[in-house]
Amino acid sequence: MTQFPNLTIVDHPLVQHKLTIMRKHTTSTNSFRRLLREISLLLAYEVTRDLELTTVRIQTPQCEMDAPVLEGKKLALISILRAGNGLLDGILELIPAARVGFLGLYRDPDTLQPVQYYAKVPNDLDARMVIVVDPMLATGNSAVAAIDLLKAGGARNICFLCLLAAPEGVARMQESHPDVAVYTASLDEKLDDHGYIVPGLGDAGDRMFGTK
Ligand code: URA
Repeated sequence: MTQFPNLTIVDHPLVQHKLTIMRKHTTSTNSFRRLLREISLLLAYEVTRDLELTTVRIQTPQCEMDAPVLEGKKLALISILRAGNGLLDGILELIPAARVGFLGLYRDPDTLQPVQYYAKVPNDLDARMVIVVDPMLATGNSAVAAIDLLKAGGARNICFLCLLAAPEGVARMQESHPDVAVYTASLDEKLDDHGYIVPGLGDAGDRMFGTK
């Protein structure tokens, strides 16, 4: 339990163990990517826990039954480029029928404000549960800008999934989008002067793709 009512911390032992390995500065790009994919499956399990079900009549080898299936339209997954793709890949393995959108936002290193350079999202967002993915919720500026954009495009039922969150980012999300539930593997301590999460894991995109 934290002071943030919009926040769920997925503190499953497997998630926490994998996250510790990801945080180590000696962990290779290869391992980092594999662990992120594995964690994303576990986070997706939690974020989809309350999806609505309906039943369909099916025939098993033994008899007929009313069996549960997901109700409504397929989910929409929105990846904030480029680091969001690391979470997206794993979630798509679990929810292969999801629709997928991409938002290109980079953080101006001086102002730390998000600058949009790309947007391509499904056009019926109003009818879908939308899961926005970005591994690092730091200042919250990109997350808030992404959700502003998705709401302007009709999205109503949105949640945000990240690997690490800073208190500053969660607070900013709560202030700007109190209706958006945030899921994370860890609420870290703070942001440093450059907007990096502490203790964090460094630049998620660089660690995922082996860039610097
Ligand atoms: N983005 C990152 O990749 N890492 C941080 O610590 C903060 C933002």
